[in-house]
Amino acid sequence: MSYQNINVQALGAVGAQVSGVDLAQFDDATLGELRNAFARHSVLFFRDQKLTPEQHISLAERWGDINVNRFFTPVEGYPQIAQVLKEPEQKFNIGGGWHTDHSYDQIPALGSMLYALETPETGGDTLFAGTCAAYDTLSEGLRETLGNLRAVHSSRHVFGAAANRPKELADRLGNEELAEQDAVHPVVIQHPLSGRRSLYVNPGFTRRFDGWTEEESAPLLRYLYDHISRPEHTYRFRWQPGSLAFWDNRATWHFAVNDYHGQRRLMHRITLEGELID
Ligand code: SIN
Repeated sequence: MSYQNINVQALGAVGAQVSGVDLAQFDDATLGELRNAFARHSVLFFRDQKLTPEQHISLAERWGDINVNRFFTPVEGYPQIAQVLKEPEQKFNIGGGWHTDHSYDQIPALGSMLYALETPETGGDTLFAGTCAAYDTLSEGLRETLGNLRAVHSSRHVFGAAANRPKELADRLGNEELAEQDAVHPVVIQHPLSGRRSLYVNPGFTRRFDGWTEEESAPLLRYLYDHISRPEHTYRFRWQPGSLAFWDNRATWHFAVNDYHGQRRLMHRITLEGELID
């Protein structure tokens, strides 16, 4: 695919590096190119951006409606922006395991725009995995079996009282009484933008296959998780202040690596509303 206004460099099975765009101001033709690149690559990475919270919100609103997160502490004065912070003395980070956001909602969020303000000198990368590429590399037989399955997802064990969260996270995550979402989705979805098939289960929020027990589900889920997170389906993004990653929850997983104790990492995240994927 050719682009007139922007430069898009594919990074492998998932993701593309985009240059030649100032996310604070770009025209509608560029927006169209970004939409095409997003549908094709599932995560777009931008460097050297300078976004105020207002500009970050305007960028998200040009794409779609903002989903105000129920559980993350917002940036003061900006309820649309979730703060993703780890202080030097803190041990736990947010998102430190493979997951895809909001799969516990019947209409899962489209994705998030994560903008880096302060990054550690070493560590703090984010890993991404491509769930369409992972589907493509399964055998025909397993694809057919999975095509008949649905899976149950929940927020309760992660954001609810049952999560038994470390006290340290109390000022970064809240509203545990609102964690009452359960959703059932097909295990294989057709991606709404690309039309590709995508494996829609994840270790963070998927509990079991619909109609199966957790024990029965565990071995096949484990197989799929190991398969999706194989190196050839993943990309590791190294952040700098001013980097922005925009990922699609319906085609990717992500994992915030927690290897920078003693250093500060501060990000602003805006999440966008999605659509029914069943
Ligand atoms: C998240 O899971 O949304 C956080 C990702 C990150 O901080 O890299």
